[in-house]
Amino acid sequence: MASKIQRLVSQARATFRKVGEEPAFSDEMKKLKEVINTLTSEDFNLSPSVARKQWNYRPYVVDSPSSCMEIYQCPEFSIGIFLIKPHKHMPFHDHPGMYGVMKVLFSSMTVTSYSKLEGQATPTQGIPVRCRFLSQLSLDSKSEPCVLYPEQGNIHQIQAGEEAVAFIDILAPPYNPKEGRDCNYYEKMETKEDDKQNISLMPGPNPSWFSCVPLSYNGPCPS
Ligand SMILES: [Fe+2]
Repeated sequence: MASKIQRLVSQARATFRKVGEEPAFSDEMKKLKEVINTLTSEDFNLSPSVARKQWNYRPYVVDSPSSCMEIYQCPEFSIGIFLIKPHKHMPFHDHPGMYGVMKVLFSSMTVTSYSKLEGQATPTQGIPVRCRFLSQLSLDSKSEPCVLYPEQGNIHQIQAGEEAVAFIDILAPPYNPKEGRDCNYYEKMETKEDDKQNISLMPGPNPSWFSCVPLSYNGPCPS
C-alpha cells in the first residue's frame, strides 16, 4: 500500500501534468490540496525539536535562520520542507515561471505576497520591479494550502511566528538556473509612487544575513 508521502508524490505528478488544461488542472489541484491536508510533521518523521538545534553548514554558515529538507525531485516538480527559526524571516524572493504550494506542518507564519505588474520572469539587477500587493496570510497547520502562480503572488516574504515554523513547499517546475529558473531576491524600496497596493522591489543578491542550510530527510521513501 502506498504511503502518504507516495500519495503526495503521485498526486503532485497528476496535478502538474495538467498545467494549462482547464478544468483538469483545477480539479487535480483540489485533489492535491486534499492529500496535503492529511499530512502531518510525523508523516515526514520530523519533530519540532529539530528547530532547537543550531542549523550549520560549516565552515560557511553557523546558526542559520532557515533550513530545508529535500523530500523528492523530478523534472516536473520538487517537494521540500522549509524551516524558519522563531521571529526570523525569508526575504522577498520569486519563483520565475513556477507554481508553488505551501502548507504549514507546525507552528505559524505570515506570508506576504505580491504579483509583478510587468509580468517579466527574469529581473535585471539594478532595475526595480513594480509589484502589486496580493495578500498577507497568517497560516498554521489548520490552514488550507497556499498556492502561488507564475503570474500571481509569485514574489513573497515569509515571517515565522513565536515558534520555529516548518512548511511543505511544492514547486513546479523546480528551480533550475540552467532553464532560467533561479531564485531572485528583492529588497523593498521607498519610492514616491508607492502606496498600499503598489511597491517597488529591487532585485539583488542573496542578503548576507540570510541563508538556508540543508538538513537530511529521515522519513519514509517518497517513491
Ligand atoms: Fe518561496
